[in-house]
Amino acid sequence: MKFENSREFAQKLDSEDALAPYREQFIFPKVRGKKVIYFVGNSLGLQPKSAKKYVDEIMNDWAELGVEGHFHAEKPWWDYHERFAPKLAKIVGANPEEVTVMNTLTVNLHLLMVSFYRPSGKRFKIICEEKAFPSDQYMLASQVRFHGYDPDEAIVEIKKREGENNFRTEDILAKIDEVGEKCALVLIGGVNYYTGQVFNMQKITRAGHEVGAFVGWDLAHAAGNIELKLSDWNVDFAAWCSYKYMNSGPGNASGVFINKKYHNRKDIPRFEGWWGHNKARRFLMEPEFQPEPDANAWQISNAPVLALGPYLASLEMFDEVGMPALIEKRNKIVAYLEYILHEIDKEVESTFEIITPENPKERGTQLSVFLHGEGKEIFRYLMDHGVITDWREPNVIRLAPAAFYCSFEDMYEFGQILKNGILSKPK
Ligand SMILES: Cc1ncc(COP(=O)(O)O)c(C=O)c1O
Repeated sequence: MKFENSREFAQKLDSEDALAPYREQFIFPKVRGKKVIYFVGNSLGLQPKSAKKYVDEIMNDWAELGVEGHFHAEKPWWDYHERFAPKLAKIVGANPEEVTVMNTLTVNLHLLMVSFYRPSGKRFKIICEEKAFPSDQYMLASQVRFHGYDPDEAIVEIKKREGENNFRTEDILAKIDEVGEKCALVLIGGVNYYTGQVFNMQKITRAGHEVGAFVGWDLAHAAGNIELKLSDWNVDFAAWCSYKYMNSGPGNASGVFINKKYHNRKDIPRFEGWWGHNKARRFLMEPEFQPEPDANAWQISNAPVLALGPYLASLEMFDEVGMPALIEKRNKIVAYLEYILHEIDKEVESTFEIITPENPKERGTQLSVFLHGEGKEIFRYLMDHGVITDWREPNVIRLAPAAFYCSFEDMYEFGQILKNGILSKPK
């Protein structure tokens, strides 16, 4: 499609956008009385207006029923978490029995490593991407130390080539091949948090399996953003947070995927608790653990129902719209944002560079922009003028126009603010 850098053209795109009405279903922060241009749905998604209703419902049930709410609430609490699997399974491309919601992301990755990182003999290494999200780095190093190994020896980082912004799939596959039978686990962020690069999860998973390793994915930046087919790709396990593209609220619960081939396997250990116990017998308080037959066997504690309320509200919207429609809008709005960035770059002296892959198949919602020179001043200018982005050292702003609530006019308006910010900067 041929784009134009004009308000009229952006408004025309909005008028043709089937998802445009959803914008009204979210609450926008305001700067000087005006709705912000919100580019940080990859960090914390906006609040769906329906979230409060879900929380109120739980609060009211608690007030009126007390403990009886576990079984007699509008949506009973004891199995509240089970409402998530069918909806989440569609988002991550899984069978509902392979998915559950519990805890938070790093905690879940640790718990999944209990099952899928069991180094022994020669096989003790973990392959990950260089400069993985810090929590993942801390998690991997602490797991390795817990098992008595030295992180410097056990953790193998895939590197980018000198002067390149993104990882090459062939380099990842070559590294997996090189580590070979020493590789116990491949664990990578499915979408890189810094650049927005989407990894070829299918090929990497296959390569990991070929050397006899388990393969897991941190899908923090992928879930609700890109197309996922975890079952078809034969992924062993994955976990994601829900507060980014899934708009569930700060610090909210994580989802996990555990391939069905590992359900009911006695040789796959896990840490257990009563919420993973056979639900028909859970309240008989028997001494011996009987696992649920599916991913729910990995559940430990009773669910944080108040937190799950907004997450469920958000998933209802995902169910209504579906990932294909979200991805179609995402592709268009990201392409328009990219076009606007290039247009502004032409109008002012070149000051920035998009470090996210150009190929739409290798990126999702996020464009990361490297601001050469006095980047932080421009970042502050944008924030002061109602454009909410985030800053990543040394000089990067990340722009994620979430398909649910960002408009094409936002992209045009952003371009004008960016241009004014650059032109008003003292040379
Ligand atoms: C890629 C990635 N992994 C892990 C985390 C940590 O998530 P949590 O604090 O929910 O454990 C984040 C948080 O932003 C993330 O972006």
